[in-house]
Amino acid sequence: MQSPFTTFPPGTIRQLRPSDLPRFRDHLLRLDSESRRDRFNGMADDNYVASYAERCFAQGTTVIGYVEGDKVLGAAELHERPELPEPTGEIAFSVERKLQHMGIGRRLFERLIGNARGLGYTKLRVTTHPHNEAMKALARRFDAMLSFEEGETVGVIDLDPPVAGRRGFFMSPAERMFT
Ligand SMILES: CC(C)(COP(=O)(O)OP(=O)(O)OC[C@H]1O[C@@H](n2cnc3c(N)ncnc32)[C@H](O)[C@@H]1OP(=O)(O)O)[C@@H](O)C(=O)NCCC(=O)NCCS
Repeated sequence: MQSPFTTFPPGTIRQLRPSDLPRFRDHLLRLDSESRRDRFNGMADDNYVASYAERCFAQGTTVIGYVEGDKVLGAAELHERPELPEPTGEIAFSVERKLQHMGIGRRLFERLIGNARGLGYTKLRVTTHPHNEAMKALARRFDAMLSFEEGETVGVIDLDPPVAGRRGFFMSPAERMFT
């Protein structure tokens, strides 16, 4: 029987540590121009991207990375939106072009939802432009309600509260195989 892991790239999905800041920054800087525009919903020069990465780490943003060796090649971010009435996280994703469409976005999303639940968030929001088919497909896969607000597509995901003893999104691919 063919292994279910043969098509998934060989890296690791893990939360980034404070010392990963340069690796996260370099990942964002390496995004090709279209992916960078999609990620930042518009133009963003290198200075903007570098200081954005620093701000994320300074403000305690949760960042999950797809890591191969010493490089972060994909990331999912969870930013708190404290001004909203419910505990809400704004999420954003980036996968480098050569690794897109291989399931990394989905894995990052799964892990991010696990972390968001652990932090007590009850809603997640993701904002993108209406033509970002990859992000819309990814959001739909996680049951996001998509709507159109001020020229942007906004996806909202309601998170169930964590259930004691449920392994859910924290299951590794190997655990899933035997469940
Ligand atoms: C959006 C992004 C993170 C998706 O990551 P990815 O690793 O390519 O996604 P996956 O391979 O896990 O695919 C997730 C879903 O998107 C679909 N998809 C991926 N690329 C697609 C494309 N170009 N067009 C249409 N659908 C696409 C997949 O078929 C999959 O759908 P399914 O779950 O129904 O099968 C990635 O394309 C990216 O980094 N884009 C640039 C930055 C960006 O747009 N960020 C989002 C705004 S925050």
